[in-house]
Amino acid sequence: MALDAGYVHAIFSAIAPRYVAVNHVLSMGIDILWRSRAVELIADWKPSALMDVATGTGDLALNIQQELPEIEVLGVDFCESMLEIARRRGLRHTLCADAMQLPLPSACFDAVSTAFGLRNMPDYSGALREFHRMLRPGGHLLILDFCIPDGIAAAPYRFYLHRVLPRLADLLTASATAYSYLGESIENFPRYEAMCNVLSDTGYNNPVCLPLLGGIAAIYFAQV
Ligand SMILES: C[S@@+](CC[C@H](N)C(=O)[O-])C[C@H]1O[C@@H](n2cnc3c(N)ncnc32)[C@H](O)[C@@H]1O
Repeated sequence: MALDAGYVHAIFSAIAPRYVAVNHVLSMGIDILWRSRAVELIADWKPSALMDVATGTGDLALNIQQELPEIEVLGVDFCESMLEIARRRGLRHTLCADAMQLPLPSACFDAVSTAFGLRNMPDYSGALREFHRMLRPGGHLLILDFCIPDGIAAAPYRFYLHRVLPRLADLLTASATAYSYLGESIENFPRYEAMCNVLSDTGYNNPVCLPLLGGIAAIYFAQV
């Protein structure tokens, strides 16, 4: 299913003021650990300039800025109300732009990261090609996102995702639509080997998938 960018923009504009708190409640704080793992990987690559795409309220970008102060971090998002919160929380450099068509010259970053972002874009391959354009030779891409796990964990996970989470989100944000869309977007997002294949097909080398917490999320990374 192709996602409509206007619909995605409207959802994040509506939930921006409560996004940070609701996110941590719905993920039971586990997203914090996943972002820390992403920061450890990025530290090993020693980039000097990094773009965090779909940075939202800046969770991953702020972690990188705080933990790795030697890196120049730019947070990009097309939703100004999310970015405004990221700036208020201390993110120094932000750009309001569509990730599908970035108003930046090619090859200006050593690393591009995106947490829970790519899944919301209308064309995954198109977005990945645009991130590829942003990277210098040898640069790294990191994607952190949810997956539907394999095996016995799949049914309880789907129950939480489609039945519990939208109701909880309704209570917390007064917008059940935003979080029912989350379930659909996770169902449709390529996972594990399929995502590694999309990365190879869009020009990345040596894609790696690190499943997190029994495979309910994964970090993917690759190089250009
Ligand atoms: C689920 S939030 C993730 C925010 C943050 N990365 C995090 O880890 O909490 C998804 C973000 O993607 C942004 N987004 C979705 N499509 C986009 C696009 N085409 N260009 C730029 N930002 C986009 C939304 O505005 C939203 O802030």
